[in-house]
Amino acid sequence: MSVGELEAFKRAAAVAAAEEVEDGMRVGLGTGSTVAHLLPAIAARGLTRLRCVATSVATAEQAAALGLAVEPFDTLDRLDLAIDGADQIAPDGWIVKGGGGAHVREKVVAAAADRFVVIADATKVVDALTAPVPLELLAFGLAATLVAVAPATVRPGMAPSPDGNVIADYTGPIDDPAALAAFLSSVPGLVDHGLFPPALTAEVVVAGPDGVRRRTV
Ligand code: A5P
Repeated sequence: MSVGELEAFKRAAAVAAAEEVEDGMRVGLGTGSTVAHLLPAIAARGLTRLRCVATSVATAEQAAALGLAVEPFDTLDRLDLAIDGADQIAPDGWIVKGGGGAHVREKVVAAAADRFVVIADATKVVDALTAPVPLELLAFGLAATLVAVAPATVRPGMAPSPDGNVIADYTGPIDDPAALAAFLSSVPGLVDHGLFPPALTAEVVVAGPDGVRRRTV
């Protein structure tokens, strides 16, 4: 698959999901190269009463430049819709996110939304999830937390998260995503991880050579 085809698939999934945005909605905007296609697609809708929150500085800046009204996520207590990309999508609906290190804010936004829609090109659909699973860790006690979640490594060259935490990756097996998610969530010092359970997602929109496919999760 060429880079051009890949971008066209990302754009197709993003444009399809943008059609779900209705005027007056409170919308959570994800992060990444697929969401980079989503933002102009939403802006092109010309909806004047949207209230948006962003999961990263990059998304906030791109959205604002496109004329979307982005506000801090501190007073809105619910969102109508959130749309975001994914790194891996398994057949049972488990998803890995956080390739860009934004998974903690992305999960907070997804969980606050009545409807969380995942957009992806077809290369993100996998038979089974594999490492890495992105992590966000407190800097306090970092070495001890890394031992507790081993095998895991700090992601090289990665800036701290917007909340000042360390981005790392779990690199071990994912035999049972639910069990691994529960284990990771139980480790003190681990802010959150990039395993998103099926219950969080309402719909997956995947675009590939066969066109755009929507799957309810
Ligand atoms: C950001 O941290 C990630 O969760 C992204 O949403 C995910 O990596 C998908 O990114 P792309 O759309 O760039 O593949």
